[in-house]
Amino acid sequence: MSIATPINLILLSLFAILVYMQLRPKAPVALPQAPPPVVFRTFTPTTLLEYNGEGNKPVYLAVRGQVFDVTPGKNFYGPGGPYENFAGRDASRGLAHQSFDAEMLTKDLKGPLDDLKDLNEEQLENLQSWEERFLEKYLVVGKLVAEGDPEAPKS
Ligand code: HEM
Repeated sequence: MSIATPINLILLSLFAILVYMQLRPKAPVALPQAPPPVVFRTFTPTTLLEYNGEGNKPVYLAVRGQVFDVTPGKNFYGPGGPYENFAGRDASRGLAHQSFDAEMLTKDLKGPLDDLKDLNEEQLENLQSWEERFLEKYLVVGKLVAEGDPEAPKS
């Protein structure tokens, strides 16, 4: 009696398929990409300015001396966004006053940082809650110091 019976041929085909499934080349496992490392830097108002979202650069803004990477909120802060005035700038006074007017921004980028000493209680509370929101939502990538500060980056 021949071993090439239909049932044997079916079993042999199934076996061949199983062997093929086991041995076929597998797609290489894609390892998750690590996010780019965050380097904590020191900025002055002038060096912060370039991070205003133009030319596909990240968008940074400062709140009470902390520099936040707000690139995920580019719709808000990027060019043409409602809060674009804050991009690359110290946004503390504007956030405290609930105003994104240009007059809220420190005019003299080479002068001292805005000490915010004139803010009233309500404005300080506004600022505090914005700061908390930013800390929850965005990464702190550096600190803001005045031009001429011993910690200021050498140009
Ligand atoms: C006409 C009045 C305003 C309207 C209708 C408005 C509307 C909004 C809306 C819809 C959001 C998004 C909320 C979310 O999805 O989390 C938002 C966020 C925000 N608004 Fe306004 N806003 C107004 C005025 C202002 C003013 C005067 C300021 C000035 C400080 C301001 C600063 C912000 C900031 C900083 C955010 C957070 C964006 C972020 O999450 O990064 N808004 N606003």
